[in-house]
Amino acid sequence: MRVVVVGTGTIGTAVAEVLREARHEVVTVSRTGGDLRADVTDRASLAALFGRVGEFDAVASAAGDVFPAPLATSTDEQWEQSLGSKGRGQIDLVRSALPHIADGGSFTLVSGVLGDEVNAAMTIGATVNGMVEGFVRAAATELPRGIRINCVSPAVLTESRAFHPYFPGFVPVPARDVALAYLRAISNPYNGRILRLHRVS
Ligand SMILES: NC(=O)c1ccc[n+]([C@@H]2O[C@H](COP(=O)([O-])OP(=O)(O)OC[C@H]3O[C@@H](n4cnc5c(N)ncnc54)[C@H](OP(=O)(O)O)[C@@H]3O)[C@@H](O)[C@H]2O)c1
Repeated sequence: MRVVVVGTGTIGTAVAEVLREARHEVVTVSRTGGDLRADVTDRASLAALFGRVGEFDAVASAAGDVFPAPLATSTDEQWEQSLGSKGRGQIDLVRSALPHIADGGSFTLVSGVLGDEVNAAMTIGATVNGMVEGFVRAAATELPRGIRINCVSPAVLTESRAFHPYFPGFVPVPARDVALAYLRAISNPYNGRILRLHRVS
């Protein structure tokens, strides 16, 4: 399969590696790195990406920012950037790729443990993850041409040490385990699934 992996950070890099090991062809994308450049918050940039990427069978998204902030002091900017990037950005990624993806292709988006578990400063993250997961469940019933969509929901990553203080008592998950969940979603006939990698002690 030819897979477009959006996001070249901790998760995106691991996803690309696992896909290559499974002998898939990978095209990496981000705003500042990867094989091709695109910004998921910019519809014109997404249209340009899918206009030039050529044929592809799957899109794996590991992009988007969410700001941890206590609800009472959260700012409009933090809400707008989080909803617009990880939330609407991933939705627009699917909408932009849909006319171009192969029959029987698949989308895999990313949410996260917030929303299923409670911690401090979680409300923005929980809201955005709920938005992404709601989109995935609903879109799975509507996608044409045998196209599938799923979501991977990681706990905090082992590699993301700066976030560990926000997740006391949570068991971090290695990026490679998260990447294997993407491979599962892409390779098997899953649709509308939220693949949770959560371990709380
Ligand atoms: N790390 C964790 O513990 C964890 C846990 C659960 C869920 N998640 C979620 O998983 C996703 C990826 O996390 P990560 O830890 O791999 O993040 P990361 O290391 O910060 O990497 C994020 C990647 O996304 C790209 N990106 C960001 N905004 C973009 C945009 N608007 N358009 C295109 N590319 C964009 C960045 O590259 P450029 O800056 O070059 O665009 C970067 O390659 C995030 O949505 C995060 O909320 C992470």
